[in-house]
Amino acid sequence: MDVQDMGQDLEKVLLSKEQIDTRLTEMAAEIDADYAGRELLLVGVLRGAVMVMADLSRKIHLPIQMDWMAVSSYGSGTKSSGVVRILKDLDTDLHGRDVLIVEDIIDSGLTLSWLLANLRSRGPASVEIATLLRKPEAAKVAVDVRYVGFDIAPEFVVGYGLDYAERYRHLPFVGTLAPHVYGG
Ligand code: XMP
Ligand code: MG
Repeated sequence: MDVQDMGQDLEKVLLSKEQIDTRLTEMAAEIDADYAGRELLLVGVLRGAVMVMADLSRKIHLPIQMDWMAVSSYGSGTKSSGVVRILKDLDTDLHGRDVLIVEDIIDSGLTLSWLLANLRSRGPASVEIATLLRKPEAAKVAVDVRYVGFDIAPEFVVGYGLDYAERYRHLPFVGTLAPHVYGG
């Protein structure tokens, strides 16, 4: 799907396919350097992180393993509350492992700070975070994020794994929606 095919749904392209690719290449190089000589366990957070995981992992040269978690944040409406439920847990024992959580976006930071504490309680050697996007102005809790692709304004974005009502995840770029799509 391309920008043109989005027709009137798209307001603007925030990050092009090329910008995302370039930034992920830089992040992978940093990760390779930081973890040289070690084996990494990448933990993808379903479902939004699927694209980031697929593209970032293929740029990493270290030996890696991959596992996935699905979590849901209880909250009123669309805002996450920090009360998190595990829908699908990891299959991997984290004891002694170097874990890198792979995320699509950090908004309030509530989901991720819960996840970080949860994974750190399982005896890993280390747990760090790589996220494609972060909205610094939306932060409610400080989360120490080692690898950030792009800091963006606190507006709702879709594409490259991110959805609006489960749509638009397959867009190769990150964009914002026209207000009529979400009733604005
Ligand atoms: P918190 O607020 O806990 O939540 O950091 C992060 C999760 O909220 C979702 N999220 C978005 N999803 N476009 C989306 O498609 C957005 O702009 C957006 N902001 C937050 C997402 O599931 C993320 O993991
Ligand atoms: Mg997510």
